[in-house]
Amino acid sequence: MPNQYPATYDKSRSDREGFWLDAAETIEWDVAPSKAWDESRGWFGDGMLNSCYNAVDRHVAAGHGDRTAVIYDSPVTDTIRHISYAELQDQVARTAGMLAGEGVGKGDRVVIYMPMIPETLFAMLACARIGAIHSVVFGGFAAPELAKRIDDAQPKVLMTASCGVEGSKTIPYKPLVNAALDRCKHAVDRVILLQRPMVEAGLSAPRDRDWNEALAAAQPAECVPVSATDPLYILYTSGTTGTPKGVVRENGGHAVALAWSMANIYHIGEGDVFWAASDVGWVVGHSYIVYAPLLVGATTVLFEGKPVGTPDAGTFWRTIVRHGVKTFFTAPTAIRAIRKEDPEAKLLHLIGLGDLQAIFLAGERADPDTIHWAEEHSRLPVIDHWWQTELGWPAIASCFALGDTRRKAGSAGFPVPGYRFAVLDDAGKPLGPEQTGQIAIETPLPPGCYRTLWNNPERYRQSFAAFPGYYETGDAGHIDSEGFVHIMGRTDDIINVAGHRLSTGQMEEIVAARPEVAECAVIGVDDALKGMIPMAFAVVKAGAESGDALRDAIVGEVRSELGPVAALKQVHLVRALPKTRSGKILRATLRKLANGETVATPPTIEDPSVLDEYRALFAGSDADGAAA
Ligand code: COA
Ligand code: AMP
Repeated sequence: MPNQYPATYDKSRSDREGFWLDAAETIEWDVAPSKAWDESRGWFGDGMLNSCYNAVDRHVAAGHGDRTAVIYDSPVTDTIRHISYAELQDQVARTAGMLAGEGVGKGDRVVIYMPMIPETLFAMLACARIGAIHSVVFGGFAAPELAKRIDDAQPKVLMTASCGVEGSKTIPYKPLVNAALDRCKHAVDRVILLQRPMVEAGLSAPRDRDWNEALAAAQPAECVPVSATDPLYILYTSGTTGTPKGVVRENGGHAVALAWSMANIYHIGEGDVFWAASDVGWVVGHSYIVYAPLLVGATTVLFEGKPVGTPDAGTFWRTIVRHGVKTFFTAPTAIRAIRKEDPEAKLLHLIGLGDLQAIFLAGERADPDTIHWAEEHSRLPVIDHWWQTELGWPAIASCFALGDTRRKAGSAGFPVPGYRFAVLDDAGKPLGPEQTGQIAIETPLPPGCYRTLWNNPERYRQSFAAFPGYYETGDAGHIDSEGFVHIMGRTDDIINVAGHRLSTGQMEEIVAARPEVAECAVIGVDDALKGMIPMAFAVVKAGAESGDALRDAIVGEVRSELGPVAALKQVHLVRALPKTRSGKILRATLRKLANGETVATPPTIEDPSVLDEYRALFAGSDADGAAA
C-alpha cells in the first residue's frame, strides 16, 4: 500500500474545512453541520447528533444487531461474555431509562466509579443517550479523590458496584463511596449500586438503590439529539496541584475524530476486533475501549485483568488469539511486565498472535529496548504514539492505516493529520530540527480536543497563555531532521507511573500536611517496570517522631488520600532539601542523583554540603534509586 500519510496531512492543512467536513460524513447527524470550525461556535457548532445513537443504535438500524459489539473477557472472574449490538442497545436504553427515572436529563452529571465490567459501558453510553454528562473516576483513586470529583462535577446520581477485582485482590467499593460522600459538600440524590457476586454491599436507605431492581422497573429511553458542542463527558486528570483538571469532551468533534482515527491510524472498521488494554477510568479507556470501536461498528474487548498474574504472562496473547483481535493497544509498562516474567517470550511463541496486525503503545514514552523486544518476538509493527487526556485521541503517530510504515524507536512518529506541531524555546520562538524545547500545538486544536475545563475556564486558558497561538502540551522534546517527533519528558511535575498520570506536586501537598514534616519534595525517578515511580524526601520538624513509623505513615497517607495507584513506596527522611539561594528546591538535580547520575554542584546552590549528603545517600543505589 502506498504511503498516503503525506497527502492526507497536507490536505488537513491546506483544506481544513473540507478535510473535517468529509470526516464528519462518517457520523450520522440529526442536523448535519454546515461548517467544520467556527471561532465562536467551535467544531461542527451548528450540528446536532447523539453519540450513543452513533455508537449503538445505528448499527442495529443498519441490520447489524447480531454482530458482537463487546467481548467482556475477565480472567479474574473466569468469565467471557459476548454482547451483540442489539443486546447492547437494549441494555443501554434500559440503563438510560433507569437514570431518567431518577430525574437525570440533558446536561446533568453522573459520576461512575466502577470496575471493568459491561455495566460500566452501559452506564457511560446511557448517559450519552439522554444527553447527560458522565464523569468516570478510576477505581485506583482513594475516597478523597473521588470526593473532589463529586464536589466539582456535582452529579445527581453516582453509579457504582459492590467491588472491583484487581488481580488476586477483591476491593470493596462501597466503603470508599461512603467515605467520599461523607467528605463531600455536594449531596448526590441517588447512589445506584450493582451487586457483584464476590461482595455484597450494604445499601443505605433512602439514598441507595440496587441496580438490578431499578433496571427491572425502568422503561427504555430513546436517544436525545444534542448540540455537537454539548459536553459528552468530564474526565479529571492530574494537573500540577492537588486539584484535578476536569477535561470536558464535546459530542461532535469527539465522534468525528475518533471515527477518523480508527480508519486512518488503527486500521479498524466494521466487524473488526479491536482491543485497548487500558481501564475505562483513563482517557484511553474512554476513547478506545468504549467510544471509538463502537462508533465504527467494530467489536471492542473489555478485559478485566492484568498483563501478568491473571493467570500468567501469556494472558494478553491468549486473549488476542481467542477473540481474533486485529489491532492491539497497550502501555509500554505492560510489555515490560510481561517481559520481566517471560524474558524469552516463550508464552507468546507458544500461543501465537492469531490475526493481529499491529501493536500500538502509549501512555508513557516507549523505551527503544521495549519496542525492540516486542517487535523481535511479535514480528509485527510496534507503534509508539503520543497523546494526552486533554486531546482525547492521538496527536503523534505513524499512521499505520494510511500505509505509513516509517518508525524509529524512541520517537512517537509524525504529527497526525489535523495537528500542527512546533518546538518552542522558553520565549516562544520556534526552534529548528534536532533542537530540544517545549512541544506545542498550533491552535485551534483539531476536533475532539478539549475546549474548556469544567468549572475552570481560566485554568484552561493558562495552557494557551504562555505561547500565543499555541497549546502548551507540558512535554519537552524535539523534531529530528526526518520529521520524527521525539517526546523526552514533562516540563512540569506530572509523572507517569505505570502509564498512570499523577502529580508529584499533589503528593508533596499530602506529605507536607503531616504534622511531623517541616518541608518536603516528591520527584519521579526512573523505574525499570513502571517507567517512573515517585520518591519522597521529608525534613522532620525538631522533636517530632521520626524513623520507620513516620516513613510508613507517609506512605499510608498518600495511599489513603490519593490512592494505591500513586505507588509511593520510598520515603527518605533528610536533614535538609537541596535548594538554590533563592529557596527553589533543586528537583532536577535530585532526580538525576536518585537515577544514579553524576551531578556537578549547581553554582546557585545555597549549601553544597547538603548535596554531598544526597550523593552519599544514593551511592551504590540501583537504577531505581532504591537507596537504603
Ligand atoms: N482499582 C483499585 N485499585 C487499583 C486499580 C483499580 N482499578 N488499579 C490499580 N490499583 C492498585 C493496585 O492493586 C496496586 O495496589 P497495591 O499497592 O495494593 O498492590 C496499586 O494500585 C498500583 O497498581 P498498578 O499500577 O496497576 O501496579 P501493579 O504493580 O499492580 O501492576 C502493571 C503493574 C505494570 C502490571 C500494571 O500497572 C499495568 O497493567 N499497567 C498498564 C497500565 C495501563 O494500562 N495504563 C493505561 C494507560 S494506556
Ligand atoms: P494522559 O493524559 O494520562 O494520557 O498522559 C499524557 C502524558 O503522558 C503526556 O503529556 C506525556 O507526558 C505522556 N505520554 C503519553 N504517551 C506518550 C508517548 N507515547 N511518549 C511519551 N510520553 C507519552
